[in-house]
Amino acid sequence: MLSTISTNNSITASFMQVFTTVSETQKQIENWQSNGLKIGFVPTMGALHAGHISLVKQSLEDNDRTVVSVFVNPNQFNNAADLEKYPRTFDRDSEMLRDVGVDLMFFPSVNEIYPTPDIRKFDFGDLEKVMEGEHRPGHFNGVAQVVSRLFEIVMPDNAYFGEKDFQQLAIINAMVKQLALKVKIVPCTILREANGLAMSSRNERLNTTDRENAKVIYETLKQAKEELATNGVEVVKKKAIERLNSSGFLKAEYLEISEAESLKAANKIEAGLNYIICLAVWLGDVRLIDNVRA
Ligand code: PAJ
Repeated sequence: MLSTISTNNSITASFMQVFTTVSETQKQIENWQSNGLKIGFVPTMGALHAGHISLVKQSLEDNDRTVVSVFVNPNQFNNAADLEKYPRTFDRDSEMLRDVGVDLMFFPSVNEIYPTPDIRKFDFGDLEKVMEGEHRPGHFNGVAQVVSRLFEIVMPDNAYFGEKDFQQLAIINAMVKQLALKVKIVPCTILREANGLAMSSRNERLNTTDRENAKVIYETLKQAKEELATNGVEVVKKKAIERLNSSGFLKAEYLEISEAESLKAANKIEAGLNYIICLAVWLGDVRLIDNVRA
């Protein structure tokens, strides 16, 4: 953690530098790197919660300096309304990051990240054809664009991603391989509310009743996992989807039981392989995703 207050940047918070430009950020990071310091990086879209902070804490533990980006990436939203409604809470975010001991918060504009339109097309094969990839066309291409661009700017030794977005983690690992980047990707476990609801910036848009009702999502995932011990994949899937849809307030978009490496849909559970149960549901106009390992 830095112990001096920076004076040469546009927005200054005590003990944490907040930069909005690529040049200032790169200059600071190059300086740290030339002093042999290890850089940890946590990319986020802001509206921070304890889930994000758990990644930050891991980075603070593993590295000499921790950089957190807050950037709502337009390229990964396939729905204009979703982009517009995405919560933006800069003051709260910067306070949380400063309090936990982050060294640098990178808060760029769209122009700063994409001075010219990013027209790169990634190919993640079957990984991007299922689940989120299937239901949110272009989403993972936008994620890969922004994360590769952020990696180019921050040049981290370690970068932290939550298993909450399990498929995103698989895509990032594939991207790092394809681009032969040196960064080490560190997966982090899902943080949940007391009732089991996975923490998410989108939970901010739920009222108190919905937030309580949403506990059915995790209950359903846990039950499906238990049932896999005695029932076939198709039966478990069908029952879980029925449970979600009969709640009266949830609408399942998909629920998949997949092999955890390839994310290929499983027909049956085979010994020696790892599986993951992933879902996306709608609660009113809020789309939530969650998963459990099976
Ligand atoms: P965002 O949704 O802000 O999430 C930032 C990171 O926090 C992701 O790695 C996500 O998996 C992790 N995270 C979110 N909720 C979590 C929880 N309850 N427990 C543990 N980790 C959690 O994911 C994105 O932003 C963007 O796609 C991004 C990678 C920043 C690219 O724009």
